[in-house]
Formats: sequence, structure tokens, C-alpha cells
Amino acid sequence: MEFNITPWEVSGKINYDKLIKQFGVSKIDAELIKRIEKHTGELHFLLRRKIFFAHRDLKWILDEYEKGNKFFLYTGRAPSGPIHLGHLLPWVFTKWLQDKFGVELWFQFPDEEKFLFKQDLDFEEGQKWMKENMLDIIALGFDPKKTHFIVDTKHAGIMYKEACKVAKKITFNMVKGSFGMTNQTNVGSIFYTSMQAVPAFLPSVLKKKKIPCLIPHSIDQDPHFRLTRDILPKLGHYKPSSIQCVFLPPLKGVSGKMSSSEETGAIYTTDSPKEVERKVKKYAFSGGQDTIEEHRKKGGDPEVDVSFQYLRMFFEPDDKKLEKIYEDYKSGKMLTSELKEILIKKINNFLKQHQKKRKAAEKKISKFMFKI
Ligand code: TRP
Repeated sequence: MEFNITPWEVSGKINYDKLIKQFGVSKIDAELIKRIEKHTGELHFLLRRKIFFAHRDLKWILDEYEKGNKFFLYTGRAPSGPIHLGHLLPWVFTKWLQDKFGVELWFQFPDEEKFLFKQDLDFEEGQKWMKENMLDIIALGFDPKKTHFIVDTKHAGIMYKEACKVAKKITFNMVKGSFGMTNQTNVGSIFYTSMQAVPAFLPSVLKKKKIPCLIPHSIDQDPHFRLTRDILPKLGHYKPSSIQCVFLPPLKGVSGKMSSSEETGAIYTTDSPKEVERKVKKYAFSGGQDTIEEHRKKGGDPEVDVSFQYLRMFFEPDDKKLEKIYEDYKSGKMLTSELKEILIKKINNFLKQHQKKRKAAEKKISKFMFKI
């Protein structure tokens, strides 16, 4: 197999077209993009550039919305370590959707997930990371009146009952098939997907009416929601819709996903300007040539250049400016060092603001926490 993607492991060189077929999701086509634009007035560059590239039942969500049946958003984060830029990508888009459609967001913190799946993570350490992670999420500017944090162990009183209803419809065989589990997998991990299903219908249970759900997430989470979609109709709920993004690549090369397990691959939201500069200069894979003379002659390759890809996927929303960088780099007019300089400035500007908001978020956690 050339690549392997599960919610817990991403390896190999990812072919997203193949993945669409393998997972059975649909491409977001031009017609769908137009329909979104009709409601949002403008298009987020993550949609324009196909970084959010696939979906399930997005047409249905828009049909319902147009009939006046508003959806809610659902996404999540399993705490286990610090937040890096790759984590932020789907959340930045989620925030845009919340603003444009004026909808509620349910943000799940499954604080048992990584504890169950990672051999060396103890529960208390996970709790510490959860608080840290919440600061990053609040810093992105979600509307506190419309955003509800739900924590699996804290809100177990309302979640567990619903998770059991889901779990009763899932066999060990289904979990094995969806996630590649074996007889050696611990039983907590086998149960876990039932907890991740709950926020997709919990608002409907609490409000005692069926509300459509849209889940923005990176593509690796799809196996969970494939299962969720099979089961919820059996419990009298809507199937959740979803919209999926690709991974922000690690610094070392354009394939794979930015990951906290490699210090050299990730830029964290708490990195200092010096640290950002050091990492980009030292590790960001370059599509440039070995010598300046050669680069001027042959030009660079923006497709494999990580700095360019970060600008495309995160830091340069202006299409014209991005195009100019693309042309200059490809023609050899712009050097790798100059391209990296642009990126370093952009990241540090972003992080300066983010870190300020992150600090201010410390007082806000309780505002976001769902109160039963
Ligand atoms: N499993 C996700 C993680 O590993 C956390 C998560 C829970 C999630 N619910 C979600 C992600 C819904 C996307 C959408 O971080």
C-alpha cells in the first residue's frame, strides 16, 4: 500500500484522489462552491484552493438551510500535546462557517481518546493539555454565545447514555473493519468511536428536535463518521454531513501530515519568533536548486516547496500575491531564502496576535464550557 490513513496513523505518500474513492466521499465541485458562495457572499481561500476538497451530503445541508432548517457545526480535539499550525487549519475554516452561517458550534474534547490510544500518556497529563488546547481554540475567535465545549469525562452524564445507544449498534467486526483493530486492542479503544458519534446528535436530543449537523474535519477522521452515519438513522437521527480538508504537510516535505511526534516537523502556536525562524530555515523542505546560479537558470518548484505550500494553505489569502510568488519562484527570480523570509514574517505576525489572544483566553474557558 502506498499510503495508509486511519484516525491514529498517517503514513506514506498520500494520493487524495485515490483517498476520495477509498473512503467514498465526494469531491466538492464548482456547482456546490457556487451554492456556498450564494450564502456566504465570499469564498474562503481554503475552499477556493480546494484545501477543503471533499464532503458527504453537503447538498442536503444546504437544502435544509435554504428551507430554514439551520444546521449546527461539530468538530473536536483529543488533547495529548501542544497545538501546531496543522491543527488550526480545519478550525480556522470552522470559525468562518460559524460567522457566515450564524450557527452554533459544538466542540468536543474527548479527553479519554489519546489516553486510551497512546501507551505512554497518563490521564492527568491529558487534562493539562486539554486546558492548553482550549486556549488555542478560543484564541481563534469563536463566538462564546454560540460555541459549546463538551468534555467526554466532564459531560459523561449526558453523553454516556447516548454513546451506549450507539455502541449497541456497533459490532467488534465493524470496528475492526473501519479502524484496523485487532484482538490485542484494549476495549476502551474499541468503544471510543461511540463517544465521537455523540455530539453529531446530542443537540437534537437536548433540544428535542432533529437538527442537521455539519462536521468540518481533516480527512483522517472520516472512518468515525462513516460509522456514525450508518448508525444514527437507526436511532431516529439525521445522518451527519461532513466537509473534509487535506493535511498541512510537515516541514520536512509536502507529503504526510504535520505531527507533534516530530519536533522538527511542526510549528507550535507557542513558538517564539526565533524558534519559527530557526525551524523554517533549517527544516522547511525547499523546491529550489542547489546553487544560486542554477536556481536563477532553472527556477524552483513551488509544488514541492513547503514554504510555498504553507503560504498557499494558510498564510497568503490574496490570490494575486500568491500567484506572483509562484511565478517569481518558478522562474528563478525569487530565491529560496527570500521565499522563506516571506513565510517567517507571515507566521510570526500570525503567532504574535494568536499568542496575545491565547493569553486573554485564560479567563474565558468557563464561558465556553457547556452547562447542563
Ligand atoms: N478524534 C479527534 C482527534 O484525534 C478529536 C475529535 C472528536 C474530532 N470529535 C471530532 C475531530 C469531530 C473532528 C471532528 O483529535
